[in-house]
Order: sequence, then structure tokens, then C-alpha cells
Amino acid sequence: MTNSTAPYLHKVTVRTHPDIALIKYWGKKNKALRLPANGSLSVVLEALHTTTTVEFDLSLTADQVQIGGQVEAGEVSRASQHLQRVRELAKDKGLLNQDIFARVVSQNNFPTSTGLSSSSSGFAALSIAASRALGLELTERELSILARQGSGSACRCVCAGFVEWLDGNNSENSYAVSIAPPDLLPLRDLVVIVSEDKKQLSSSAGHDLAESSPFFVTRQERIGHKLVTLKQALLARDFGRLGELAEAEALEFHSILLTSQPSVLLLYPGTVAVMHLVHRLRKAGTPVFFTINTGFNIHVLTLAEHEQHVRQQLEQLSEVQQVIVSGVAGGPEMLNEHLF
Ligand code: PMV
Repeated sequence: MTNSTAPYLHKVTVRTHPDIALIKYWGKKNKALRLPANGSLSVVLEALHTTTTVEFDLSLTADQVQIGGQVEAGEVSRASQHLQRVRELAKDKGLLNQDIFARVVSQNNFPTSTGLSSSSSGFAALSIAASRALGLELTERELSILARQGSGSACRCVCAGFVEWLDGNNSENSYAVSIAPPDLLPLRDLVVIVSEDKKQLSSSAGHDLAESSPFFVTRQERIGHKLVTLKQALLARDFGRLGELAEAEALEFHSILLTSQPSVLLLYPGTVAVMHLVHRLRKAGTPVFFTINTGFNIHVLTLAEHEQHVRQQLEQLSEVQQVIVSGVAGGPEMLNEHLF
């Protein structure tokens, strides 16, 4: 059977960008719905992207999912669960009265599973492409809510520029909004690859460990204030204050990881070498800061005018394999060229 019998089915290709959180989402207050323990704030990265093509096909008997040329059982099952959420939405809106399976091909232009948030752009892209492929016309808010259920941070990657994930207490009010456009600040994120090892901790497992750190309670007490202060610095275009707060947040996040039970040590010698370099450069007068997610690769934040100097310095470190320079991205893009 072909899709000509179901004219509302389209092949759709979307490009999304992963983000880097300046205030991290760490820990959940509702695991099933992926409601975060706290609000978070991030920047969507223009140089990194995920491209995903989705087509629902009446002849398929199961979802077929290929990510970066690989068919990996765990990822197929997680993507398929997400496709089921989209099918249920389409049924609710009267667009579907049976389960139709999808073919999904997705590619990243950056190393996957190394702590560079490929699941944030991945589930954002899957949400947008799959919903459109079934003829659903979702608002940005609806897409954010849908993407959040696939991977928390994905809810931020349906938005553009500087993004806040609101700290809601139910599924309908836990979504992200853009709080400033990409050109608010000439921010550069130098994404420093020190290893392409697969990270040892999935963020899903990590969120479950958060509360085992004795410092998690203190983090929760302070995080609301921290979020407000960082947002004020951002909107005032005060990069020095913004960077200082973002770096302190990354260190607090890794302190939670280190003091979780069991302890999680993700930093590599190369990560620490970059941290030292950032401190040396700052001491010498360059406005530069770092932040890190659940991996060993590290994000070095500076302003466009200092990009070249910082890059040259980073590339002199023997531990540094690659530096990808990124500005701040606009929103997701629809592409006319498909991956199959
Ligand atoms: O969305 P997840 O489950 O991959 O968790 C993301 C966790 C961090 O990247 C460490 C922080 C964040 O807010 O992106």
C-alpha cells in the first residue's frame, strides 16, 4: 500500500540545533512526565545540528529508526515510544484512526553521546518532523511539551536564541520559551572536543542520582535566585556577569555529580587542562568562561572579538582534538532535501 491512500501523510525533514545550558536541568520532580526539579536557561548552538527525516508509511509493520547510520536497539525503542506519543496526539485530533509506523533517519554533524546534548536536538527534530509528517499543526508551546517527554532538554531546542524552560508543575505548564533573540549578544561558544569516547553516564541515569548528593537540597534552595540573576545579566548584555554565573553553575553541577552516590567523575585530564587555560586567559584580561554538561567535552564561552585569540590558545593544548566555534542559532529549519 502506498501513502497515496493517505494524502495527509508527508515526508518531512527538519534541522534543529542542540543547546548548552547555562543553568542546568538536573533532577526531576516527575520522572514519567520529565518535569524538571528546577527551571533552566540555555543557548541554542548554530554550528551544531541534527537533521531528521520522517515518513509514515502504511506498508511498515514497525518503526524503522536509523541514527548516524546505526540501528541501535535502545535508541530505536526510545524513538519509537516518542513516535507513539505523536500518533496518540494525531488520534486525539482526529487525524489518525490506526497506528501507522514511520521510517526515521537522523544525522548529527557533531560527535554523538559525548556530552554534547545530541538528544536535545534529536528529540526536538523528531517531534517537529513526526508531527508535521502526520499533518499535525502544533504551536511552539505544544511542540516544546511534546519534545520534553522525549528528552527534557529537547523542549528548549524547538525555540530560538536564548531559551528558558519554565519551572512548571504539570505537563501543560512545563515548556520552554525564547527569552532573547540570537543577536542579543555576540556570544561565541568554542566547543572543545578532548575525546570522542562514549560518555559513561546517560543523563536519564544521572537525573535519578541527583538527590543522592547531600548538596542537592542546597542547590534547590538557591537555584531560583540564580536563574533570576543570570537572566538579568543576560538581558542587560553583561557578559562578564553572565559568564561568571554560568561557570559557577557548571562547577556546582559537577560537585553534585562528584558527591552523588555512587560518585560520578566525568572530567578528563583534557577537560581540566581547558579549565585551567580559561582561568589563565581570564587572569590576563580576556572575558572567557567555561561550562560543561554530562561529559568530558567542554564549552568555552567568549565574545566574538576574542574568538580568534581564545581558539589559538585552545589549539595549542595537546589534549585538544577539535574546536568547533558556534554562534547562537535561530529556530528549527524545514529542509526540502530529505535523507532518504
Ligand atoms: O535532557 P537530558 O535528560 O539529556 O538532560 C540534560 C542534562 C544537562 O545537559 C546536564 C543539563 C541541561 O540542562 O541540558
